[in-house]
Amino acid sequence: LTVPSVQAMVAATGRATVPPRYLRPAEVVAGDSEAQIPIIDYQRLLLELELDHCGEESARLHRACQDWGFFQLINHSVPDDVVEGMKISIQQFFQLPMETKKQFALERGQQEGYGQHFVFSEDQKLDWADMLYLYTQPHESRNTKLWPDQPANFRSTLDVYSGAVKDVSDSLLATMTKNLGLKREAIADKCIPGMQSVRINYYPPCAQAEKVVGLSPHSDADLLTLVLQVNHVQGLQIKRNGSWLPVKPVSGAFLVNIGDMFEVFTNGRYKSIEHRAVVDPKEERLSVAAFHLPNVHAMIGPLKEMAAHEEDAYKTLDHESFMKLFYGRKLEGKSFLEQMKL
Ligand code: SIN
Ligand code: FE2
Repeated sequence: LTVPSVQAMVAATGRATVPPRYLRPAEVVAGDSEAQIPIIDYQRLLLELELDHCGEESARLHRACQDWGFFQLINHSVPDDVVEGMKISIQQFFQLPMETKKQFALERGQQEGYGQHFVFSEDQKLDWADMLYLYTQPHESRNTKLWPDQPANFRSTLDVYSGAVKDVSDSLLATMTKNLGLKREAIADKCIPGMQSVRINYYPPCAQAEKVVGLSPHSDADLLTLVLQVNHVQGLQIKRNGSWLPVKPVSGAFLVNIGDMFEVFTNGRYKSIEHRAVVDPKEERLSVAAFHLPNVHAMIGPLKEMAAHEEDAYKTLDHESFMKLFYGRKLEGKSFLEQMKL
C-alpha cells in the first residue's frame, strides 16, 4: 500500500491538523535524570583488537551489549568531511520537489526507494515520516536506478560513506566475536560478502508531536545497526525497564545497536532492544540507519558454538525467508522475533 508523503502533507496543510490515521495513544517516557547509554571509544577497541587481547574497552563493549543492546560509538574513524557530506546530501535530497523525489519511489512489493515501509492495511496507524531505503554493499547489490542523482554528489557521497561505515561495523563485529569467546570466523565467514542497506529517515515537525510517532516501536532485523543523527533534534527512544528512555544525541558519534539476527546468532546472549522515534513540534529531524547483514546465503539461527551446552532458543531460517518475514508484517515491538522463538 502506498501512503501519502508526510512531508508533502505538512507542506500543504500546515502543521496544525493531524489526520486520525497518525494519532497514537500516549506512552510513559522516562525523565531526564535517567542514565544514558554507554559510550564506547572505537580507537581503543581497534588497538585492543590489533593486540589481540581483551582489554578494558572491549570489556566495556561486552557489558554494553549485554546490559543495553545500544551504545554511542565515539572516535569512529569515518572522516568528518564524509559524515558532513552525507548530512548535506540528505538534507538537500529531501528539499527537492516532490516530482523529483518520486522518480525514486519504491514500487509495489519492493523494499528499495523513496516512500514508506510496513503498510499493510487501510486502518493501520501510520508513522509521521518519509524515508529512502537503498542497498549499499556489496556493490553488486546496488540498484543504482533508485540512487538519487540529485543533489549531484549524492551517489558518490553515499558510496564513500557506506564503505567507511561498513568497515567500522566489521571491526565491531570482530570485537564482539572475540568478546563472546568465538573463533574469529564464526560470524565473519557468514559475512563474506556482508551486506549493508541504509534507511534515511525524514521526520517533519508536528504541532501535536506528542500524539504521533515518527517510527513505530521495533527491533532491527539485522546484525548491527549504525545510526547517524543528522541534525541536533532529539528523537530516538529505547525501551528500558518498561518505559521509553530518550537518547541524547552525542555529537560526532554513531549510535550502535544489536539487531535480531545477532540475538538469534548468540542464542539470546546479546538482545536486540525495542526502540522508536518521536518527532519535534517545530523542527524537522533526519537520521541515517546503516543495517549490516550476513551474506544472502547465510543461515540465520543460533551458532552451534553458542548453543553447544544449551538448547536452541530460536528457529533457523535462510536469510531470504528471515527478511521476507520481517518485511511481511507491520512493525510492532519485538513481535517479529517472538515468531522466531522455539
Ligand atoms: C531507527 O532506525 O530505528 C531510528 C533511527 C532514528 O531516527 O534515530
Ligand atoms: Fe531501528
